[in-house]
Amino acid sequence: MKMPRGGRLFLATCLGSLFVLVLYFQSITKPAEAGLKAVTRPGKSRTSPLQTLYNGDQQLELLAAHKSLQGRRELLEQACLSHTRKRRVLSPEDLKHLIVDDMHGLIYCYVPKVACTNWKRVLMVLTSDGRYTDPLAIPANEAHVAGNLRTLSEFSVAEINQRLRSYLKFIFVREPFERLVSAYRNKFTRRYNTAFHKRYGTKIIRRHRPNAKPEALEKGDDVTFPEFVQYLVDPRTQREEPFNEHWERVHSLCHPCLIHYDVVGKYETLEPDAQAVLRLAGVEGTLQFPTSGKTTRTDGHMAARYFKHISPFYQKKLFNLYRMDFMLFNYSTPEYLRT
Ligand SMILES: *[C@@H]1O[C@H](CO)[C@@H](O)[C@H](O)[C@H]1NC(C)=O
Repeated sequence: MKMPRGGRLFLATCLGSLFVLVLYFQSITKPAEAGLKAVTRPGKSRTSPLQTLYNGDQQLELLAAHKSLQGRRELLEQACLSHTRKRRVLSPEDLKHLIVDDMHGLIYCYVPKVACTNWKRVLMVLTSDGRYTDPLAIPANEAHVAGNLRTLSEFSVAEINQRLRSYLKFIFVREPFERLVSAYRNKFTRRYNTAFHKRYGTKIIRRHRPNAKPEALEKGDDVTFPEFVQYLVDPRTQREEPFNEHWERVHSLCHPCLIHYDVVGKYETLEPDAQAVLRLAGVEGTLQFPTSGKTTRTDGHMAARYFKHISPFYQKKLFNLYRMDFMLFNYSTPEYLRT
């Protein structure tokens, strides 16, 4: 018997919607369903991080972070209900930022410029089965090598769903404009980032600097913050390709309205929030989250200085671009904006 024309396409569509449906169910999973053990944990009967979170843990409740974690989870859920209309189709491609730790039952969605190098280091220790013990002994570039950690997109649909259901899913976020200024400073004002200068800098200067000097067009190493902002709000930019992950919105990287994150950590309270995750994972005693020795962290005052040079027109456009990240994670509109 011959398949009618288009049969294959129909099948493909069905599979597509199956995947979406399954993820949809995941997104509305309530804590009550969370009583599953992390499956791949041979010979251990310890409760999973997810169980620990929702079944209550006296030690955890003593941590200052605990109450705010619950509040943020609820706020995120509410914000998603009021601000997202249509559920977008999720594909395995969308799960590339979700790092999986099968040993402890953790899923971490990494957001660049929000301590993600240190989280990757910690996850390398957690999944290395003893090969690594000290996160800071892992060089930063090693932590970013694709393939050193497994992402959820590498698994089958059934394996994806099983993990989404039973693992503790966490994310760390940051005030959107502080993250953006941090990305700008890191990628465009440091001499060593030549790859970014070539790839993005030359294009930004070509498009957004009238009468650019040949050397600037060639090197792309002196992009100003206002030029970077013009590039971001230019409709051509996103039509041509997705934003680079360093300035892509958390909403687009981690899909927080489709994937139910159990812990929303914040950069502003990095240490206690990281400690809470490590406690849930049952490794608080053996592993410490690396504290940054950075003295030039981008903060609100620094962001304000950079935004002084942005006109109200562009400030408004930029705010609209990042609006969802502000709302979903309870960041208020910065006072320095003149919109
Ligand atoms: C949201 O932000 C406001 C203002 O900063 C704060 O008072 C409130 O506690 C936050 N809510 C949650 C759930 O984090």
